[in-house]
Amino acid sequence: MADRVWQIALVGVGRGSRYGRLFADHPRCRIAACCDRSPEALAKFAAELGLPAERCFLDYGEMLKTRPDAVFLGTPIPLHAEQTLAALEAGCAVLCEVTAAHTVEECRQVAQAVHRTGRLYMLAENCVYWPFIQQWRQWVAAGRLGEIFYAECEYLHPIPDQIVDAATGRPLWRTTRAPLHYCSHSLGPILHILGDRITRAMGIGQGHRLLPAGGEGGIDIQVGLFQTAGGVIIKLLRSSIAPREPRMHFYSLQGTRGFVETDRLGPAGKGWLHVEGEMDKAQSIDCPFADASLGPRALAGGYSTGEYCVVEAFLAALETGRPPALGLTAAMDMTVPGLIAHQSALAGGIWLDVPQID
Ligand SMILES: NC(=O)c1ccc[n+]([C@@H]2O[C@H](COP(=O)([O-])OP(=O)(O)OC[C@H]3O[C@@H](n4cnc5c(N)ncnc54)[C@H](O)[C@@H]3O)[C@@H](O)[C@H]2O)c1
Repeated sequence: MADRVWQIALVGVGRGSRYGRLFADHPRCRIAACCDRSPEALAKFAAELGLPAERCFLDYGEMLKTRPDAVFLGTPIPLHAEQTLAALEAGCAVLCEVTAAHTVEECRQVAQAVHRTGRLYMLAENCVYWPFIQQWRQWVAAGRLGEIFYAECEYLHPIPDQIVDAATGRPLWRTTRAPLHYCSHSLGPILHILGDRITRAMGIGQGHRLLPAGGEGGIDIQVGLFQTAGGVIIKLLRSSIAPREPRMHFYSLQGTRGFVETDRLGPAGKGWLHVEGEMDKAQSIDCPFADASLGPRALAGGYSTGEYCVVEAFLAALETGRPPALGLTAAMDMTVPGLIAHQSALAGGIWLDVPQID
């Protein structure tokens, strides 16, 4: 099936436009349909890609009637479960932006629909495919850091204008997305490296100093603590509004032989590594977000090659029938712990079991 051209439907042309460019540029894909409920946004992106009117849809249900092979969901998280179910029931494979769903019950519904329909489902968690994460994964698998027993991850990215419209004061969908809900960019790479699952979670953080009108999305900052089945402790720090420039993704792994971590100055692409027996003290290392060997086309998704690798992994799963690394189980493992940790925060920080959904 390697010479087949896959008919892709793109839904949501905000963040989804990055994937739209990648699919449009891909020799094995064709944008068969593009859908957005905003006529202006749809027209603008259709003009960029040169899509004819008959391939553009304001209504998701109408778009599904064109029976594309696969649907890319780049819509707000509260729509993910309902749109995933509709696509799977229509016989389409689904590549869904993060996170998988807005509630634990919706996660269960997605899992049931994947099993019922037998269709391919994958989470578009791009950070997992950053080159340094893949490199750390190889180091951990080879035992270079010994046994990992502690990890940290932080994602601080102030986007108050995407939570409350600054001009009108209108609440946007991210008012319902608590900081800890958006955990996949942080927990995702750690779990991918460890090959482990989270079994218990607790969270704290209900402050509203910075964006009182921001609902749960406007909580100042939240910390989540997690325990894995393999006995690893993970600490997660999340905020969508704390002032921070540049925005920051931080990852740290502590093993019995040493540690590796990124620096805290945002996307500088640097980090530190110390391995007992290999070096006396920590050495500066590169932590690249893009793999230059993949060529300029791989950067059409943005500043990293993560999105390109997501697309390639999705196509490989479509073509081989083999489950992708970020299939249903990984998608749920990278979504549900944050939902549970936020429940814990609302309850004052009690430990809660994390249901295993697969
Ligand atoms: N992986 C990443 O790095 C990353 C970055 C940003 C956003 N995201 C994710 O991407 C998704 C979209 O985020 P965004 O910032 O583009 O959001 P957004 O609010 O800009 O909305 C995206 C688009 O969806 C459209 N839309 C809304 N409801 C729709 C419907 N019912 N049918 C069709 N189109 C509809 C909107 O008109 C908009 O153009 C979210 O899941 C978000 O978490 C991921």
